[in-house]
Amino acid sequence: MSRLYTAAALSASLALSGVAVWAGQTFYHVTEGTPLDLSDAMEEGRDTEAVKHFFSTGVNLYNENPAVMAEAEEVYAGMCSGCHGHYAEGKIGPGLNDDYWSYPQNEEDAGLFATVYGGARGQMGPMWGALTLDEMLLAMAWVRHLYTGAPETAIWLTPEQRAAFKPFEPGAGG
Ligand code: HEC
Repeated sequence: MSRLYTAAALSASLALSGVAVWAGQTFYHVTEGTPLDLSDAMEEGRDTEAVKHFFSTGVNLYNENPAVMAEAEEVYAGMCSGCHGHYAEGKIGPGLNDDYWSYPQNEEDAGLFATVYGGARGQMGPMWGALTLDEMLLAMAWVRHLYTGAPETAIWLTPEQRAAFKPFEPGAGG
């Protein structure tokens, strides 16, 4: 009686919006390795352009997108900064603004999404009940914006974005 939903099943549930999921993509819990049930996602925020694009390509349209940066910062401030720090420098939870990851999958947006959606250990609870899919992509984009590493290592950006990317400087504003 598995009510297991993969990205493919989410795609089916989004059939009206014509969402396709990139080949065979399934998201797994970062520590337990169990497939994440995307049907748990809130109804709201499932059919935005960014969500559809993410589930069909793995690319987060909100990365370095000036039109949504303020909103992205707001979601991060409300849901993540208390544990990860204002600049994602680390607090109760680990720093998210450099190229060291406890879970190397977070280097890519598909992996980062799985961590945010499904949670990790201890206080890093799953966000599927707290944020819409769209808000998760916004929070992820702000985490990426806070990145202090070299632009070449910002592999989640498009080549054009990477060329223009300035590593975030904590305390320097912006
Ligand atoms: C209540 C505290 C808390 C909140 C809120 C929280 N986190 Fe975490 N987070 C943690 C802790 C603790 C860990 C370490 C868990 C582990 O190692 O398994 C963690 C781990 C992570 C990791 C893995 C880091 C790595 O090095 O691989 C990511 C990514 C992450 N959090 C992103 C987020 C984002 C994005 C948000 C907001 C949507 C968020 N977290 C909200 C406490 C929190």
